[in-house]
Amino acid sequence: MAKNIDWANLPFGYQVTDKRFVANYKNGAWDAGELTSDATVHISECAGVLQYAQTCFEGLKAYTTKDGRIVTFRPDLNADRMASSCERLEMPVFPKERFVQAVLDTVKANIDWVPPFGSGATLYIRPYMFGSNAVIGVKPADEYQFRILVTPVGPYFKGGVKPIVVRISDLDRAAPHGTGDIKAGLNYAMSLHNIMDAHRNGFAENMYLDPATHTYIEETGGANILFVTKDGKLVTPKSNSILPSITRRSLIQVAKDYLGIEVEERKINKNELADFAECGLCGTAAVISPIGKIVDHGTEINVPSGMEEIGPVLKKLRETLTGIQMGEIKAPEGWIYEIK
Ligand code: PLP
Ligand code: COI
Repeated sequence: MAKNIDWANLPFGYQVTDKRFVANYKNGAWDAGELTSDATVHISECAGVLQYAQTCFEGLKAYTTKDGRIVTFRPDLNADRMASSCERLEMPVFPKERFVQAVLDTVKANIDWVPPFGSGATLYIRPYMFGSNAVIGVKPADEYQFRILVTPVGPYFKGGVKPIVVRISDLDRAAPHGTGDIKAGLNYAMSLHNIMDAHRNGFAENMYLDPATHTYIEETGGANILFVTKDGKLVTPKSNSILPSITRRSLIQVAKDYLGIEVEERKINKNELADFAECGLCGTAAVISPIGKIVDHGTEINVPSGMEEIGPVLKKLRETLTGIQMGEIKAPEGWIYEIK
């Protein structure tokens, strides 16, 4: 039986659900893993994750389709991206087939927590891994835990698809040859001060510039960025220090193959910001969240689509992507994994 939750008013927050997946890595091998009711992690006081932030994570969602199926979107790409994160952080990869199966099993074990179709809420799935045994010298742990928790969520930004105001950031989230392209916890730890400072100053997010020259647009703290030109082209930043968003990669294909929209992936100079017709964030949590205004050190760039609603091209892209995710529009082969 579905949980008695006010789905339409859920925040983007955590609540304890019934089951989570836990697997442990020890003596060079992963154990079989299990679903457990224990929502608490038990690790050494000197665990690698606590001392040197040896941790990475993923984020994806499960949806109820119009015809009542429960599905998830491209979990194989989250497995691949987590493998890149693990390799970069000297952590053991959790094998791809097992990752995907564990995602499906964890959703199935919490089926009553999957929000209904049309509620505006979704089940957020958070796979993560951390060094669990004691390390005191700076080195990787020998033991790791891989977990998957799920929690029902509403929109990432209050107001759902209401345009937000962002600022150009002075601080960086990534180094030029650093870890910006992986989903390491450390990238988010170093963004916390900046996001709180942005909120205190009335901005929903920070728009980061390339860390080497502060010239080109990169991404925000938790999403990639999309622009639409005045002649209807989709333009998105190309950079080695941004996260390869699965939503962005999917939208590029949707734009080209479903909507006949021309797409450019290229460096975007911050001087170009005033030339675009629409702007938005994209990611699993953000879906597509429109940006209505960008503030660059006191200079306000008002995006022509305005502060009232999402622009027409981003709206069409958003509707097509969510239509694919929620089973209303036929998905490309291999994008949708059904939980049976
Ligand atoms: N960029 C950052 C920094 C993120 O944290 C996320 C969220 O996962 C994204 C982009 C969007 O990636 P995806 O579309 O795979 O969720
Ligand atoms: C996601 O979109 O899945 C994210 O991880 C963004 C944020 C919650 C960190």
